[in-house]
Amino acid sequence: DGFDLVVRNAHVVTAADEFDCDIGIRDGVIAALGRDLPAGRKEIDAAGRYVMPGGIDGHCHLDQPMNDGTKMADDFYSGTLSAACGGTTTVLPFACQFKGQSLRAAVDDYHARAGGKAVIDYAFHLIVSDPTPDVLKRELPELIAEGYTSFKIYMTYDDLKLNDRQILETLAVARREGAMVMIHAENTDCIAWLTEQLLAAGHTAPRFHAASRPMLVEREATHRAISLSELVDVPVLIVHVSGREAVEQIRWAQGRGLQVYGETCPQYLFLTSEHLEGEDLHGAKCVCSPPPRDKANQKVVWDGLENGVFQIFSSDHAPFRFDDPQGKKAAGENASFDQIPNGIPGLETRMALLFSEGVLTGRIDPQSFVALTSTNVARLYGLYPRKGSIAVGCDADIVIWDTDVNVTIRNEMLHHNVDYTPYEGMHLKAWPGVTISRGEVVWADGRAQAQKGRGRFLECTKPLPARPKSERKLVREG
Ligand code: URP
Ligand code: ZN
Ligand code: ZN
Ligand code: ZN
Repeated sequence: DGFDLVVRNAHVVTAADEFDCDIGIRDGVIAALGRDLPAGRKEIDAAGRYVMPGGIDGHCHLDQPMNDGTKMADDFYSGTLSAACGGTTTVLPFACQFKGQSLRAAVDDYHARAGGKAVIDYAFHLIVSDPTPDVLKRELPELIAEGYTSFKIYMTYDDLKLNDRQILETLAVARREGAMVMIHAENTDCIAWLTEQLLAAGHTAPRFHAASRPMLVEREATHRAISLSELVDVPVLIVHVSGREAVEQIRWAQGRGLQVYGETCPQYLFLTSEHLEGEDLHGAKCVCSPPPRDKANQKVVWDGLENGVFQIFSSDHAPFRFDDPQGKKAAGENASFDQIPNGIPGLETRMALLFSEGVLTGRIDPQSFVALTSTNVARLYGLYPRKGSIAVGCDADIVIWDTDVNVTIRNEMLHHNVDYTPYEGMHLKAWPGVTISRGEVVWADGRAQAQKGRGRFLECTKPLPARPKSERKLVREG
């Protein structure tokens, strides 16, 4: 009965395949792939350009309430708009439980923040910071059953951290209920001890943030997280891996047959600890945890993307403005490094950075790019096969890539509400030309065309990769 939209002459890349065809879209879903499809009400000629599944950003922070006087600069409108303009069609930000708060209250609050604002589809991860008996026995299982099938736990940050016993008990719930667990792995006591020594010696500048969280603290916590997951016999995903030492732990675990997954982010490919230098606060712009390392570690992270240590590539977008008393300067112009809110923006630049510097350089093949930025994210978090591929029946979330462009990244061209980008001045040779979300063009010709509130909340299924090997059997998804 005709197509709403036909994307003609696409050079389609999926996580497995590469082929030329037209894509017929009806009611927001891919209805046909083939040659010489009948006319659609709207047509886009992709003329041999790379056409790939829209990005899924499996780790970003949007309008997440903070209890320290800081405020995230992106809400669900600016954040998802920025994502769409950068080729991302689904985001998974975090509904974060404060200690003392019920998980349900955190989820309800987060829905209120997202509702009517998002321009692309979204699902929520939970953050479990207070695993009380009621949370573990009742709330978490109920929420997992309702479609919140992944959650993050922290081994550091006083407001969020769990001790080993709490981690074990929380992992056991994930195992029983079939949820994916993301772990922020840094040793909190090592960080506190080092921070105290640095501050006592007057070392307060942003660059000492890196000194307070050396790779050892990430290595130790990564190993411990892996051991706890082995003990409980449940898969875990180590998020925002920064360099060699954590990579070695993950590779070691994978080599032993443990189900340990890894995520890395643009900051570990393109920034180093030198970006934190200078005696003024400018280094605060690149303060994130774990901190960026050095050039040799960037190479290790690239290698991990190429050789399968990492399954996913996420932004960890954490939108704090620089020149703002609710942002990086919350503690004033003379803030010490430990008072700077952690995290950097990156929702809009994630896809193009990896395409330009990974795919066009030949470091990463196009299929792996799709897997890392979309398909694997959908699989790990229970959105596959609705999201994450170009196939009949999938949501029509599609990016048509421009690869004949010279783009110099400038914060002015980005759509987030942060007043800087760590990648200012970088030259890229690729950028999303058209972003299509459920069959609607949301970004084209350098213009955002996305209707506020059109994005839908996605309930996630229980992800197959979250099931322990010992308990697996084939269940048809979708
Ligand atoms: O520094 C970071 N990564 N901030 C964002 C929160 C987190 O831990 O992912
Ligand atoms: Zn082709
Ligand atoms: Zn984290
Ligand atoms: Zn994060």
